[in-house]
Amino acid sequence: MTNVNEGAANPAQKTVLLGVTGCIAAYKSCEIVRGLQKAGVRVKVVMTEHATEFVGPTTFRALTHETVAVGLFDDPSDPIHHVSLAQEADVFLIAPCTANVIAKIANGIADDLLTTTALATTAPLVIAPAMNVNMYENGATRYNIGKLHIRGARFIDAGDGYLACGDIGKGRLAEVDDIVSATLDELGVKRDLAGRSVMITAGPTVEPIDPVRYISNHSSGKTGYALARAAALRGADVTLISGPVSLAAPQGVHMVHVKTARDMFAAAEDAFEDADIAIFAAAVADMRPREAAGHKLKKGIADAELGTIDLVENPDILATLGERKEQQVVVGFAAETNDVVANAEKKLVSKHADLVVANEVGGGRAFGADDNVVWFVDDQDVEELPRMSKTRLADEILNKAMQFLA
Ligand code: PMT
Repeated sequence: MTNVNEGAANPAQKTVLLGVTGCIAAYKSCEIVRGLQKAGVRVKVVMTEHATEFVGPTTFRALTHETVAVGLFDDPSDPIHHVSLAQEADVFLIAPCTANVIAKIANGIADDLLTTTALATTAPLVIAPAMNVNMYENGATRYNIGKLHIRGARFIDAGDGYLACGDIGKGRLAEVDDIVSATLDELGVKRDLAGRSVMITAGPTVEPIDPVRYISNHSSGKTGYALARAAALRGADVTLISGPVSLAAPQGVHMVHVKTARDMFAAAEDAFEDADIAIFAAAVADMRPREAAGHKLKKGIADAELGTIDLVENPDILATLGERKEQQVVVGFAAETNDVVANAEKKLVSKHADLVVANEVGGGRAFGADDNVVWFVDDQDVEELPRMSKTRLADEILNKAMQFLA
C-alpha cells in the first residue's frame, strides 16, 4: 500500500503561516501549500474575507489538515486567535498579497485576522505581491513596500507578463517554486538535496508465526523517520519504506508500509533503482518461520507445534541491493552488542556499503531511544560521533552520505 501522507505536526517541524488575500492568484496558494509540505513543512492558512471569494477555506483545510482561520472571532475556543497564530508561525508568508494588505501592514493597520496576526507576530515576514501593473507601480505601493523592506520584510518580486485584468506588465505573482524556496530559505532550511532521490528503510519487520503471533524486534522507526523528515526538508524526493511503527508519516514523503522482510525487500528493490542515496536503517528480522500457521496455535499443543518452529533465513536486503549498486550511495547500519567497529567494518565489505553507521544496542541503547551514539565507518576512516538526538543525527548521516555522491 502506498500513499503520500501529510501526517501530523511534530515538534521538530517548522510551521509556515500562509496568508492568502483577495486576488485572482489565490488559487496558486494551493500549490504553495503543496510545495512547502513536500519540503516537510507544516502549513497553516489564514485568509482575508475577500480571499474566500476566490478559493474556499475548505480547499485549504483539505490540503493542510488544519483549521483555516478567516474571521477574528471564528474560533470560540480561542478568543485571542491572532496571538496564537502569530506565535505558532516560524515564518509568516503572505502570497498572494494585494496592494491593500501591503498598505495596511506597512501602516500598522490591523482590521481583520490576517493583518492583526501580521502585527502580532515576531516571525519573519515574506510577501509575494500580486496585482494590476498600475497598482504595483503606483507611488503609494512602492512607498509601502519600501517601508516594509526597511522593517525587514522580504519581498518576492512580482513577475512580468499577461495579467488577469488584460494588462501586460509587472504584477503577476512570482513563480510558486521561487516563493517556496524563499520561504524555506527564511526558515533556515538548506536545500542541498533538491533534485536527489533518497530511499530509506525504517522500523522493524514482523514475521508471522500464526495469525496472532510474530517474530520481531524493538525498533521504533525513530531513526528512519528522522532521516526521511530531514531529507525531505533538504529538498529530496523521499521514499520511506517502513515496517509497523506508531509514528506519524513525515510530511511530503512517499510512504510504503510493509510488514515482513520479504515485503520490505520488494519495496526496496522498486525504490532502489532511481535512488541517489539508499539508507538501510530498518531492523530487518534475519529469520522467519518457514510457514505461518493458518490458525491460532493452541496452548495445549505448544510443545508439539510452537516448540519446534522451523526457521528460514530472510533475504538480506542491504547486501543484495548493495551488490547491484550503480549511482546509488549505499548507507547501511550495524547494530552490535560487542566489537562494534570491527563488526561494522566487516559489514561494510560483506554488504557492499559505502558507509556503515554503527551503533551499540542492548541495555536500552539505540532501539526506541530519542538519542544515539554512532560511529561512521567507511573504507578510509572510522569516526565516533558524540551522543546526539536522532533528529540531529539524521542530518549528520545525510551530510556524510552526500560526500559519496558523484
Ligand atoms: O528504530 P529505532 O528505534 O530508532 O532504532 C534504531 C536502530 C537501532 C534500529 C538503528 O540504529 C539500527 O541499528 N538499524 C539496523 C538494525 C539491524 O538490523 O542491524 P544489523 O546489524 O542486523 O544489520 C546490518 C544492516 O543490514 C542494516 O542496515 C539492516 O537494515 C540491513 N539488513 C539486515 C538484515 C536483512 N535481512 N536485511 C537488511 O537489509
